Amino acid sequence: MIALGSDQGGFEVKQEIIAYLEKNQLEYKDFGSYDTKSVDYPVYAKLVAKAVQSGECEKGILVCGTGIGISITANKFKGIRCALCSDCFSAEATRQHNDANILAMGGRVVGPGLAVKIVDTFLNTPFSGDERHVRRISQIED
Ligand code: RB5
Repeated sequence: MIALGSDQGGFEVKQEIIAYLEKNQLEYKDFGSYDTKSVDYPVYAKLVAKAVQSGECEKGILVCGTGIGISITANKFKGIRCALCSDCFSAEATRQHNDANILAMGGRVVGPGLAVKIVDTFLNTPFSGDERHVRRISQIED
């Protein structure tokens, strides 16, 4: 199950992501927001971070205007490793090296086409499991 969240700056990109998830028959839970009305991005970052932290959802995807505020908020939660990505190289690397469990993007930074490719990369790249990466992640959590 993939947790989704956005504010008004990420709403349209989130709709493209939903279309991608549905096309690929991937289960998701959309925590909002549900339209382009102005809202406070921390509300949605917290809902998604808690869903991933609790194990209700395996991974999360957050989109605000820049991806910055929403990723800063998600990373306040212990066990959350939220990576702000604007390219596929970073999305692949953060799965392999950081075992990132939430992807953040800026809806005003990446277009819907690139966002979906970044999501596809993020969801389909496993953690490497290399000892040095396991060690570094445990240092983050300490
Ligand atoms: C909302 O205008 C904007 O501040 C928000 O989407 C995000 O970019 C914050 O980091």
